[in-house]
Amino acid sequence: MKLRAYTIRVQEFERIEELDDEQAALVEKAIAATKDAYAPYSGYKVGAAVRLENGAFITGNNQENAAYPSGLCAERVAIFYAGSRYPDVPASSIAIAAMRNGVFQEEPVAPCGACRQVLYEKEIQGGVPLEVILYGTYKIQVIRQVTDLLPLPFKLDRLRSG
Ligand code: THU
Repeated sequence: MKLRAYTIRVQEFERIEELDDEQAALVEKAIAATKDAYAPYSGYKVGAAVRLENGAFITGNNQENAAYPSGLCAERVAIFYAGSRYPDVPASSIAIAAMRNGVFQEEPVAPCGACRQVLYEKEIQGGVPLEVILYGTYKIQVIRQVTDLLPLPFKLDRLRSG
């Protein structure tokens, strides 16, 4: 038996002003994107902003539906739109913010498992680390790459070989 340990390094900041200018600008876009979320069922509005390697920004927010599972998280709305708009451009950073009943969350919002899988594939496809910035009013967390958030991912090569 072998015991393997995985370590996640998370940088923590107390305020947006402590981030570098690029990170702060992306967080502001994620905050702004929460406004247009369609979340009448949960009342939980999430915004995501993606920076692409070509300098473009894509934002998204969660979109819910009366048939609950048909909705989609903000992260996937943004990442899938980025893929549809700029299919060959890697993403270098994503920021995520969330508000409940009109109030931004104190604790950072962390992407759900399905979104981590989608972010992971975007990172692998792009070939560059995809930084993840999780915004909260009391704490901002920065994770250097998605692989850190999903250390044992389902990989594309599983579909192709034994
Ligand atoms: N949601 C997101 O958009 N992103 C997350 O990281 C967590 C959850 C959405 C899905 C649903 O519309 C609402 O938040 C409540 O789960």
